[in-house]
Amino acid sequence: MSPSPSPSRPWADLVADAVARVAAARDAAELRRLDVELLGRQSAMVAARAALASLPPEERRVAGRALNEARAAVEEALVARRRALEDEERSARLEAERMDLTEVRPTRRRGHLHLVTQARDRLEDVFVGMGYVVADGPEAETDWYNFEALNFPAGHPARNMYDTLYLELGPPESTLLRTHTSPVQVRVMEATTPPIYAVMPGRCYRQDTADASHLPNFHQIEGLVVDRGISFADLAGTLDAFTQAYFGAGIRSRLRPSYFPFTEPSAEFDITCVFCKGDGCRSCGRTGWLELGGCGMVHPNVFRAVGYDPEEWTGFAFGFGIDRMTAQRHGIDDLRELVTNDVRFLRQF
Ligand code: PHE
Repeated sequence: MSPSPSPSRPWADLVADAVARVAAARDAAELRRLDVELLGRQSAMVAARAALASLPPEERRVAGRALNEARAAVEEALVARRRALEDEERSARLEAERMDLTEVRPTRRRGHLHLVTQARDRLEDVFVGMGYVVADGPEAETDWYNFEALNFPAGHPARNMYDTLYLELGPPESTLLRTHTSPVQVRVMEATTPPIYAVMPGRCYRQDTADASHLPNFHQIEGLVVDRGISFADLAGTLDAFTQAYFGAGIRSRLRPSYFPFTEPSAEFDITCVFCKGDGCRSCGRTGWLELGGCGMVHPNVFRAVGYDPEEWTGFAFGFGIDRMTAQRHGIDDLRELVTNDVRFLRQF
């Protein structure tokens, strides 16, 4: 449909209409369609340009100038709208892709120490508070430290209590992964002179299948006191004080006669089962008590092995499972949770 041009501004209406439509274009595609319609080969302007040729020269000049001006006005409107749309699009994109570096998401958590490490630290703290020092020793041990110096001579039947993992190093069965932290007692005694008040936490190994209450790789904390006139009552009192400090007033402890070659007398250290509070349940084998480890008075042969005079020195020792204590304190009924490394479990502590 061709416009009805006024003689002075023949394109005025068409330009006004075109500029309004261009300004209202909502996106680049619409703008391209308008560009084709208004200025393309089928447009009124291109047709008008072709028609100029048939005009007399004077009229052609006037009509030509009017046409050029009209075309320029439409082109200008197209360019302006294109720029405006590009700007809008850019700011929309910036807004959508913006990263707020000051944002703190409420669910974000920092890492923390593993539950067993936290337990080891707390146990150390309890004993340091009682005047003990902390010591450690190697995980790969010789037969002498793990057994011999602890009064297990070669072939001693009590060696069967420990499902030992031997290392292929040196003569057969001369090197092993320590089965308990007791070899560190021997190392501490060799390195110092009494009095000794020390705890020795660390990792131990036994050829064992993991189940709810056993891990083949577990942690113990060893305790050793060597002084003049130490009695079994000191051992019992120390363990009771420790139980209160670590587990709280609701948990009681008891000692049961037992046997270890390196202590005499020896005892098993039990605490009230935290799951049933002593009534008896699956976790404690219906006894109401949980076995945490062994203890006893240091055997004279152990003092002799490190060159201490058993007539002069007396002492007690204990060795508890850290993993079991951790499980008790936090009500975890399967030790394997501690090594599965499921972050949903670990995060709770
Ligand atoms: N080392 C013993 C064990 O792991 C526990 C223990 C330590 C017993 C110290 C007595 C004294 O079975």
